[in-house]
Amino acid sequence: MYYKSLGKTELENELNKLKSRYNSFKEREISLDMSRGKPGPTQLDVASDVFNAKTNNIIYKAENGFDCRNYGVLDGIPEAKRLFAEILGVDDSLIIVGGNSSLNMMFDTVAQGMSHGFGSEPWSKQGSVKFLCPAPGYDRHFSICEYFGIEMITVPNTADGPDMDIIEELVKDPAVKGMWCVPKYSNPTGTTYSDETVRRIAALKPAANDFRVFWDNAYVVHELYEDGDTLLNIYEECLKHGNENLVIQFTSTSKISFPGAGIAAQAAGPDDIAKIKKRLSIQTIGYDKMNQIRHAAIFKTLNDVNEHMKKFAEILRPKFEVVLKLFEKEFGGLDIASWTKPKGGYFISLDLPEGCAKRTHTLCKEAGLVLTGAGATFPYGKDPKDSNLRIAPSYPDVKELELAAELLTICAKIAVIEKVLAE
Ligand SMILES: Cc1ncc(COP(=O)(O)O)c(C=O)c1O
Repeated sequence: MYYKSLGKTELENELNKLKSRYNSFKEREISLDMSRGKPGPTQLDVASDVFNAKTNNIIYKAENGFDCRNYGVLDGIPEAKRLFAEILGVDDSLIIVGGNSSLNMMFDTVAQGMSHGFGSEPWSKQGSVKFLCPAPGYDRHFSICEYFGIEMITVPNTADGPDMDIIEELVKDPAVKGMWCVPKYSNPTGTTYSDETVRRIAALKPAANDFRVFWDNAYVVHELYEDGDTLLNIYEECLKHGNENLVIQFTSTSKISFPGAGIAAQAAGPDDIAKIKKRLSIQTIGYDKMNQIRHAAIFKTLNDVNEHMKKFAEILRPKFEVVLKLFEKEFGGLDIASWTKPKGGYFISLDLPEGCAKRTHTLCKEAGLVLTGAGATFPYGKDPKDSNLRIAPSYPDVKELELAAELLTICAKIAVIEKVLAE
């Protein structure tokens, strides 16, 4: 690390220069937010235009003649099921189209495991329940585990996905009932699981036959570049190993149409789909089919979705690039930070030297920049090294991001120098 090669006086000089840059940011009283992966207003306007242009007349007849204005249809209208089947690479019969949130479907599915189980006793009646949590990962997955009192076991996320040597060992414990995965443009690392990782997950033979992989494919079509990452079809791989009920997949149009006002879906093996439908038949008379038909009228095929996502990529790409450019400019050659350069999704993951993430977060906050809480990307909100920060560049505009990224790099450098001086 460059700062370690400097003497005390040189370090103090460097720190003073950074602090004066920091103070001039503070004086500007900025208010910026790079904390949550939300689409920006321009993106939402593009989505609104698409919907406005095509849904002037309220469409309500599904292709099988069903009147979407009325009660009924538990697992989704055929055209919405077909769309998600194509997106997730499974047969229509294995799809359930839900409401406005895939996270909601994940929560309900974990709840079902706890209260009724997946083929065995309810998880909650089997003693301790553990989930494997590749980290850094999605904070809301971890919150679901905490809510149900499920013990989380942190597994390192590598550039190829979760460390499979560790996973294969851990699933030998029959108390391990689940594993979270964000396989494409992962939240927050932006990485996509390699073919080998997907194959090894599909081939798992856990000690618990009611173990399930929660395959949250939230960023399945969210490319920033034409030459995006490709993800192997997990369900096809599972079939090769007689594991048709191993994986439960989730996705939604939250970042295709509107977060909180899109449509969500899950896919699973035939036995699990039957169990989930049974539960749903108690839980609801049917989800919002008017929204399903609106979406299916606009996105008839995966190709329609991909074409639409290219418009979003035009908006998002410059946002990612301005942050990455600033990181390169400010951190380049210092050997104090590493960061991911995703080809899609909503996040960049920044790793700083041990013990520097929280301090950087605090400095940013005091100067008006909100970041996702340091530690939030780890189970129980505790990053064992206190080194990871999740950067969400989607919401602010490019000019704001330029400021935010510069401020972040200044704060990170201050935190690192303070640490070196303290040592
Ligand atoms: C990995 C991941 N899964 C799920 C969600 C939420 O999806 P939904 O809006 O469908 O509930 C998000 C939102 O940021 C996410 O990053």
